[in-house]
Amino acid sequence: MTFPIFPDQASEVARKTDHLYWGLIFLSTGVLLVVFLPIIVFLFKYRRGKKADRSPVHLPEMKIEITWTVIPLVVFTGLFAWGANIYYTIERIPADAMNVDVVGKQWMWKIQHPEGNREINELHVPIGRVVKLTIASQDVIHSFFMPAFRIKQDAVPGRYTTLWFKADKAGTYHLFCSEYCGAQHSQMHGRIIVMQPADFQAWLSAGQPGSTLAQSGEQLYRELGCSGCHEGSTTVRAPPLQGLYEKPVPLQTRQVVTADEAYIRDSILLPAKDIAAGYTNDMPSFQGHVSEEQLFALVEYIKSIANASPPMQNVREGK
Ligand code: CUA
Repeated sequence: MTFPIFPDQASEVARKTDHLYWGLIFLSTGVLLVVFLPIIVFLFKYRRGKKADRSPVHLPEMKIEITWTVIPLVVFTGLFAWGANIYYTIERIPADAMNVDVVGKQWMWKIQHPEGNREINELHVPIGRVVKLTIASQDVIHSFFMPAFRIKQDAVPGRYTTLWFKADKAGTYHLFCSEYCGAQHSQMHGRIIVMQPADFQAWLSAGQPGSTLAQSGEQLYRELGCSGCHEGSTTVRAPPLQGLYEKPVPLQTRQVVTADEAYIRDSILLPAKDIAAGYTNDMPSFQGHVSEEQLFALVEYIKSIANASPPMQNVREGK
């Protein structure tokens, strides 16, 4: 049995983070030595009763002041830049990411792939692909922690948070919940399984449930009656959803928002919050009627029709 002091390094970000960590350790050690070595030496040299030269010395005070101000300033500003650089790398999601949805609930992690595959407390990913996690919580705050990738992100009720990573080493790694979330918090853990791309494809096809996440979303969209107002020539007019995703939406308040995942989620749960310009607030809230997993499916459906053109009879004159 081995007790590794450090978790595996399974991504470039993990290596960069460790370099910074060791940089901080070495620098702190250096500062420690500069301060404590003279203390210890002088402790013995000027001990009471020792015959040491105690006559006042005249040092170039200005030079000393400038030196011990400028050198630490440069060194520690450099550290800031180093850390900020890694921070921005972690916070900026690369454009070519594949999205995977994560729902935290007491006490498990539920994962949904766009292909329709679902898993619990396990996340299978291919090596060398940027994976974007869109994270929601069904109850309290959890935190999705992947030590081998040196990243974590809270799952916060009522909103989506995101995290990305790109695994470059195949293997099985820890997944933890790192936010105390109730009695069985310590049981809320699982595995990240990084596979070769071909193996990942085989895993996807083997477990494929027959409908993709977007297809499940579309089915739900019909079952919940969304299509009744958002499609065709109905008396109740609601904005068409084709081509909506990632587009700017002018609101009644003359603000313009982008129709991202969070906007779509809010529009389903809190329809009165952001009313599209030219429409009235006729939509009922689906709060409590759809689960976070179903919301992800609905969002995925709306994403899947991002390039479709809206039916003509439902298009309003824009001003
Ligand atoms: Cu979920 Cu701790």
